Amino acid sequence: YPLKHPATLSWSFSGPLGHWDVGQLQRGLKVYKEVCSNCHSLELVSFRDLRALGYNEAQVKGFAAGYQIQDPNPSATGEMVQRPGIPSDYFPSPFANAEAAAASNNGAAPPDLSLMAKARAVERGFPYFLFDIVTQYAQGGPDYIHALLTGYGQEPPAGVTIQPGTHYNPYFMNGPALAMPQPIQDGQVTYDDGAPQTVEQYSRDVAAFLMWTAEPHLAERKATGLVVMIFLIAFAVMLWLVKRRVWAGVA
Ligand code: HEM
Repeated sequence: YPLKHPATLSWSFSGPLGHWDVGQLQRGLKVYKEVCSNCHSLELVSFRDLRALGYNEAQVKGFAAGYQIQDPNPSATGEMVQRPGIPSDYFPSPFANAEAAAASNNGAAPPDLSLMAKARAVERGFPYFLFDIVTQYAQGGPDYIHALLTGYGQEPPAGVTIQPGTHYNPYFMNGPALAMPQPIQDGQVTYDDGAPQTVEQYSRDVAAFLMWTAEPHLAERKATGLVVMIFLIAFAVMLWLVKRRVWAGVA
């Protein structure tokens, strides 16, 4: 089957000066919460992590309280208790257990999305990966998620058969079709910052949000790396000058 390569998009967090666009991450969180979380968990992300997205303590508490969490510790009488979420809880799975998750989509359990943006970091192949090391592009994961979400609604090419219960998508890397139906439509999520309410924009925002969940320290790491590189270059120049002085008298 013909696999299409995801388009290379421009992300605020790519490149050596990469930074998060906090407004975009907040929109991505909204898309995740209203759409993706109906099927996908984010079990490595806790509610208190959302402070990095510009929410204060009270907002995080309110957000967490909107979820029902199965407490990891049984009550005194030995029952498992459901209670409202607190900031140290993790985004729960919408399903009671693995069987229920698999049963939800003809046997294909929706995978946890916490690390998806790193897990699907499509290799761009020789020679691009050599440039990617220098430019720090390496955003194959968000490119893939965006391409997948915007890649529905196309006719399969002649000769490609689609299994019942699956949906054709030329970007899906594991076959011509996947168990996830097109999850999001134009206008489905309301934005309050004036960003376009289109599948295109939703896909970019949720892909950026999933990059943040997969690598929350990305921007910090890049900022440190830049200072380190500037220091190393200045240090190399100084060493060269010292070397010239030390060896000045030697013929
Ligand atoms: C798989 C993202 C909403 C059901 C996936 C994958 C991604 C993804 C990245 C992995 C594809 C791969 O393996 O390469 C999202 C996003 C969503 C969303 C960002 C929200 C915008 C949903 C919804 C459902 C769902 C609402 C349920 C109706 C599934 C299932 C799979 C899957 C069943 C496994 C597909 C297979 O392996 O055949 N999703 N998803 N997803 N998703 Fe979603």
